Amino acid sequence: MKSTAVAHANLAFVKYWGKVDSKLNIPTNGSISMNLSNAQTVTTVQFDEELEEDIIQEGEKQILNDSKFAKRVVKQLDIVRELAKTRSRAFISTENTFAKGVGIASSASGMAALTLAAVSALSLDLSEKDLSILARLGSGSACRSIPDGFVEWISLGKHEESYARSIANDDHWDLVDITVVVTQSEKAISSSEGHLLATNSPFFSTRLNNMTARLAKVKSAILDRDFLTFGQEIEKEAIELHAVAMTSSFTQKNTWISGIYYWNEETIKLIHKVQYWRSEGLPVYFTLDAGPTMHLITLSKYLPEVLSAIETFEQSQTIHVKWEKIINYPAKGARIID
Ligand code: DP6
Repeated sequence: MKSTAVAHANLAFVKYWGKVDSKLNIPTNGSISMNLSNAQTVTTVQFDEELEEDIIQEGEKQILNDSKFAKRVVKQLDIVRELAKTRSRAFISTENTFAKGVGIASSASGMAALTLAAVSALSLDLSEKDLSILARLGSGSACRSIPDGFVEWISLGKHEESYARSIANDDHWDLVDITVVVTQSEKAISSSEGHLLATNSPFFSTRLNNMTARLAKVKSAILDRDFLTFGQEIEKEAIELHAVAMTSSFTQKNTWISGIYYWNEETIKLIHKVQYWRSEGLPVYFTLDAGPTMHLITLSKYLPEVLSAIETFEQSQTIHVKWEKIINYPAKGARIID
């Protein structure tokens, strides 16, 4: 009745942005990601017939059951309980190795670890595909944290056919992600909200029309370890997603808003710098999710050079900055660590 699971957050190179079904988290397009070695969630789930309600602890802190986070956890556990035909409540203890709101989605690793721990504690015998589908219900990107290494989320529009599978193991390619945390402040519009606004952009359909070709190109660049094609495609992809977000106008609290700007000044400065570093011969590209945090992507042999370029840049600022940096290599998928 008790199990502990670990799952890594993942970074999408071709991103999930827009849903055809927002209850089931079925995306409008497939996506491709890599599990991040230094961003993981460890979750223990212990079912107990005596408990009257689920008790959730995050690190040392007990979480109030009417909080947004607790509601998401309970909703996901209810789905697993229904599958196992039990009403038993659980004690859930969860911990991230990385801070929330730093631009690494904790919902992916969190939901993947929670789902696997609950499934295993209730001795449900599920395939990796079924686990991925189940994790997706908690948070779309969580389905990609189930399989190993480099992962594709294929989605044919149907619940049973929207799941992630590995395209290459974690040791396939020595790619590195340097997560540069340019601000600790929380983003104003969550990715779940952003998904719903995506279709407001006039460029949404253009992005979708190019998606099949992009997915194929990024997948084969990973399989061929073709860093040049890979880097160019993922950088274009990130900018195109943000172009959609920036043109997804909406009205909030009676105010018209022209679009979602996830970038801040630091993000823009780093974008210019990455372009400059490349012109100087340093092979480095960037991608970003629904927030200002920059993910610099390079090969491990260039890591010292990229780190030193960032440091020189930090020191050159009129007001000196020292950003938190998290170095991530490809990692395994979710697993039980009892
Ligand atoms: C920009 O998986 O967080 O990171 O399904 O509503 O929980 P929900 O959304 P979520 O969206 C992630 C969006 C993204 C791109 C990506 O990871 O593919």
